[in-house]
Amino acid sequence: MSEILHEGNLFHLRNRHISYVLYLVPGGIPAHIYFGARLESIRPEPLLRHMGVSADENFSIQGCALDRLSQEYPSFGLGDMREGALSAVGKDGTDAVDLRFVSASEENGKPTLEGLPATFGTDCRTLRLTLRDAHTGLKAELLYTIFDDLDVIARSARLTNDGSSTMWLTKALSLCLDLPDSNWELITLNGAWARERSIYRRALMPGEQGTGSRNGASSLQTSPFIALVRPGTNEDQGEAIGTSLVYSGNFTASVFVNQYGGARLLAGINDRCFRWHLDPGDGFQTPEAVLVYSTSGLGDMSRTFHTLWQQNLLPQRWAHKPRPVLLNSWEAAYFSFDEEKLLSIAKAAADAGVDLFVLDDGWFGHRDDDTTSLGDWHSDLKKLPGGIRRLGERVRALGIQFGIWMEPEMISPESDLYRTHPDWCIHIDGRESVTSRNQLTLDLSRQDVRDFICDAVAETLQESGAVYLKWDMNRNFSNIGSALLPPEYQAELPHRYMLGLYEVMERLTCKFPDVLIEGCASGGGRFDPGLLYYVPQFWCSDNTDALCRCQIQYGTSLVIPPSAMGSHVSAVPNHQTGRVTPMETRFAVALSGCFGYELDPTKLTNEEREALRGQVAVAKQTQTLRLDGRFYRLRSPFEGNETAWMTVSQDQSQAVFTAVRSLAQPNFGPPLIRLRGLDPRRCYRIVETGEIFGGDELMESGLLCPFPRGDAASLLYTIEALKA
Ligand code: GLA
Repeated sequence: MSEILHEGNLFHLRNRHISYVLYLVPGGIPAHIYFGARLESIRPEPLLRHMGVSADENFSIQGCALDRLSQEYPSFGLGDMREGALSAVGKDGTDAVDLRFVSASEENGKPTLEGLPATFGTDCRTLRLTLRDAHTGLKAELLYTIFDDLDVIARSARLTNDGSSTMWLTKALSLCLDLPDSNWELITLNGAWARERSIYRRALMPGEQGTGSRNGASSLQTSPFIALVRPGTNEDQGEAIGTSLVYSGNFTASVFVNQYGGARLLAGINDRCFRWHLDPGDGFQTPEAVLVYSTSGLGDMSRTFHTLWQQNLLPQRWAHKPRPVLLNSWEAAYFSFDEEKLLSIAKAAADAGVDLFVLDDGWFGHRDDDTTSLGDWHSDLKKLPGGIRRLGERVRALGIQFGIWMEPEMISPESDLYRTHPDWCIHIDGRESVTSRNQLTLDLSRQDVRDFICDAVAETLQESGAVYLKWDMNRNFSNIGSALLPPEYQAELPHRYMLGLYEVMERLTCKFPDVLIEGCASGGGRFDPGLLYYVPQFWCSDNTDALCRCQIQYGTSLVIPPSAMGSHVSAVPNHQTGRVTPMETRFAVALSGCFGYELDPTKLTNEEREALRGQVAVAKQTQTLRLDGRFYRLRSPFEGNETAWMTVSQDQSQAVFTAVRSLAQPNFGPPLIRLRGLDPRRCYRIVETGEIFGGDELMESGLLCPFPRGDAASLLYTIEALKA
């Protein structure tokens, strides 16, 4: 159970494992006192003295006292030399804010955040702290939710102009966490197209460090997540604080180490290209930031994120529902297909037991390559004489379902849509527009554009009878301007775009609750909790090479459950790397996520097609376990030649174990890999070998892994507990 203890100026949120404590220093500034393992009680005095504050005397900001004070929602400019969480330009043109306590209230459960995705649930309690700046009249309502059974604090802020003149928010972050020391290491996820989310870890240094995106999306290059871990923290032990933003647009996640050795963690919307206009009475809601705390290492931190997203964020109608095994046409056919070719692929897929055939890019307008037609969402009758309607019908006649690809947020300059509505894209009048992949971004801050997108998607789904939609988004923002926004509102565009996207997602998921939407953004370029609120799975990367996928999926799993990662077996030589890896390894790696295929099965040998049938059967047998189980990372591809991970059912009676050795190396014995998450008192059978071991033996001594010969060798074991 969670509880909020309120005694005098002290607020103590806690559950069975964690405590979060804040204190109103005399004068009403909310100071941060503690975040960590559960405390029975805490005296604020030592921490206040550490910050140079007396618990009894009125706090004075003289002498730059704010620079030492750990604060809950600070602003720069009144003596605190660190970066702040909030800036607002008032009528006098200055931007400092001094928030003081007004009131506090508590509620069961968790309020929704207007217009934004956020975690939900009744298994939690929320503290609402209301603060106000007397100089400008800016009011802040800080929400803190503590969950009963998850070591999570969710935070957000609602800012309201409670004054009498217009003001501009120039920074409005979701979270500030001031930690008393900086003996931490910072973990971020960074990468690029086809190399998403590699793990980077380094010691904190004085000054500012972290990550962020200004791309218009959470991006391929980084992820709205950072962790602070004590030196020596590994998968199984050590202190870790992870934070993740439930947001899909520009963000910042940074840590500032100041002159006193304290560390300030900040997360929220990136203030590059952000300025929000607030007339008297207007409000602004920040996205939610989630804090996870663990003393049991990175593995435990990740499992808390996985469970939180699965239970309290994903669309619940999909969260525990086995997902279809699909075959996607992209690497099988690219833009070059006709109805008969697609049907022969779909037929071979159906013969292998696949549930769903997905038609990727190239079915609409005149799209024979990526230079045209985004926005013209009607069938190309040259390729598909009966349109997507007849194709859908003929695919279903094969006994499998039909799914389709769209990139609804985009527009090709070479399209009827652009010729009709040249002002519907993001652009700056009078400047040359910068295309990327030959396309421009539709301006989702506009209601007419949002209505167009909803109609186009609805018509496509209705016409084709698709039960699955691959929702792609393939470029970053540039020329950031909107035809409709007045000059003083232009810097609202990136966030208005995200609000528009979430509105569209909300409308479409309500209208088509049974359509499974898989997100995609040039691979995993917007694979964040904001979108996971609407789409339960996301194409993890355009890179389908099994060895590259070991790194990409391992890094992604720091914050996202594998059960949300679209991962497919593709053909060899691999289309991104040219590498040839064994079919078994491609299968083992793809099986760890939302499983499917990205190849033309008509080009496979009979033997390979037979293998496909077996793979699909294994995928179906194990899908509940892979969806609902707990994920354990065992060997990191960033640290050595092997990758290993396993998923264990909640009742510890079943597991799937995957290990990959990248390069063959002579004259080493087979490695022993220590398993995790099993019951040490039970005995387990490795189904594929028939061997029986104690759970303790597998976890302490390890499982011998006799990899087959050759590079990119793998082992895939299903493990079952013996009946007691
Ligand atoms: C993006 C996606 C791919 C594929 C292509 C189609 O790159 O990530 O999976 O859908 O677009 O153009």
